[in-house]
Amino acid sequence: MAQDQNYILEMCNITKKFPGVLALDDVTLRVRPGTVHSLMGENGAGKSTMMKCLFGIYQEDGGEIFVNGKKENFSSAKHALETGVSMIHQELSIVPERSVMENIWLGREPGKKLGPVQFVDHKKMFKDTETLLKNLEMEFSPNDRMGSLSISHQQACEIAKAVSCDASIVVMDEPTSSLTETEVNHLFKIINSLRDKGVAIIYISHKMSEIFQISDDVSVMRDGKLIATKKASELDEDKLIKLMVGRDMTNRFPPVDSIPAEVCLSAKNYTSDVERSFKDISLDLRKGEILGLGGLVGAQRTEFVESIFGLRKIKTGTLSINGKEIRIKSPEDAINAGIGLITEDRRGSGIFPLLSIIDNTSIPSLKGCRKKVGFLDHKKIFNTATGINKKLRTKTPTFHTPIQNLSGGNQQKVIVSRWLMTLPEILIMDEPTRGIDVGAKYEIYTIMSELVNAGKAIIMVSSEMPELIGMSHRVAVLCNGNLTGVLEKNDINSENIMRLATQFE
Ligand SMILES: Nc1ncnc2c1ncn2[C@@H]1O[C@H](COP(=O)(O)OP(=O)(O)OP(=O)(O)O)[C@@H](O)[C@H]1O
Ligand SMILES: [Mg+2]
Repeated sequence: MAQDQNYILEMCNITKKFPGVLALDDVTLRVRPGTVHSLMGENGAGKSTMMKCLFGIYQEDGGEIFVNGKKENFSSAKHALETGVSMIHQELSIVPERSVMENIWLGREPGKKLGPVQFVDHKKMFKDTETLLKNLEMEFSPNDRMGSLSISHQQACEIAKAVSCDASIVVMDEPTSSLTETEVNHLFKIINSLRDKGVAIIYISHKMSEIFQISDDVSVMRDGKLIATKKASELDEDKLIKLMVGRDMTNRFPPVDSIPAEVCLSAKNYTSDVERSFKDISLDLRKGEILGLGGLVGAQRTEFVESIFGLRKIKTGTLSINGKEIRIKSPEDAINAGIGLITEDRRGSGIFPLLSIIDNTSIPSLKGCRKKVGFLDHKKIFNTATGINKKLRTKTPTFHTPIQNLSGGNQQKVIVSRWLMTLPEILIMDEPTRGIDVGAKYEIYTIMSELVNAGKAIIMVSSEMPELIGMSHRVAVLCNGNLTGVLEKNDINSENIMRLATQFE
């Protein structure tokens, strides 16, 4: 059947079931060439599954896919690539031991023949990669080992890979989740130039501002269904949120009305033991307080909070908890001192893929869940772990499901639940709502507000301006490893934060 030539991609009536979940329910998506088409929806709505069906990673249970009017049914990612469909995944799939160029050309290495034998043409591979990286203004070398690059550079390689195969459809599943602002702008430049060449980009992100910056069309999914496809110009944030969550959301932040009391954590002259990291940071945190930690990506905020948690070494500095000086040499020391840390790199260091949601939530809390005779109190574990996940609306068929079956954002909710379950006195949250949809963000904010109302204290590292402004009692800003200022409530606004965040020496 010939399809409408106005579309480069048509996915018609796609259905996909997983055990206990109807992930896609008769979804039809049409994409025009030379456009950026954003795919929006809450965690678990079915966005990644839809794209994995397109890409041949999952086989749909029903429906048809047309690329350029021709019916296709990709049997593998390789097959999709050969037809001009490429995808940058939400979960990076790199080979850390191999070089940048080997990663980019994996499975499609340029060959040269020497008699009857086929060899990989390393020279050509190097040259091609060099040109590719140069055109994309990427500042690493084809020979760099993939594992030695930062997450954002690894992501940039995935982008280079997508560009390298001359795709006519490029899917980007949350490509900016760990990019700096400069890198995001750079990515948008690349996206625009691809669009100008007639490439269709399917763009998935939870960052509302990005959507309005680059989209031509927006499709919204909810609970495995397509709710609407609209021109971006017909939408605004409120309308889009309403389509996503199915109700009006007048407030993005709950009230935070706790009044901070005495100092519970005090870091003095904290200096990293590695070069070019944070130096001489002195900062107090009070009971009942949310202390925002702002700055650009690369400002060393993660490094600083990880050193408080005992994950990194310091050269000089002292730490006091409730007025008593202590030395934290490992995360275990930190947990014993009542500190919890929700890491930024939740996928890398956070999850046990094969274990259930209950196990993933309760692991650090098991000590407190023993019956007198020493056995684990499974009922208590189950009730507490499921209670917190329910509150965050973790979407799953059952709480015994392995965490790897959950959507990206729902996995993150489980990790947030994990640290809430440890009932820390002091909770450090590093980008707590990254990759999490608007509705669930509100739930996390509500829990944060409840915690500080109960006298706990929170350090929140965040790159999201609205979140810093909406939730913090005070905002401390780092730039290049230096503490450039601490803003009190009335001075917290984006101009002041940006000014301090860019106060390079
Ligand atoms: N391999 C799998 N096995 C079982 N269930 C799965 C699998 N992959 C996805 N699901 C389920 O399908 C549904 C849709 O998941 P999907 O990953 O497509 O969501 P998403 O819209 O990409 O969400 P997010 O914004 O969190 O990334 C979820 O309920 C998820 O738990
Ligand atoms: Mg996803």
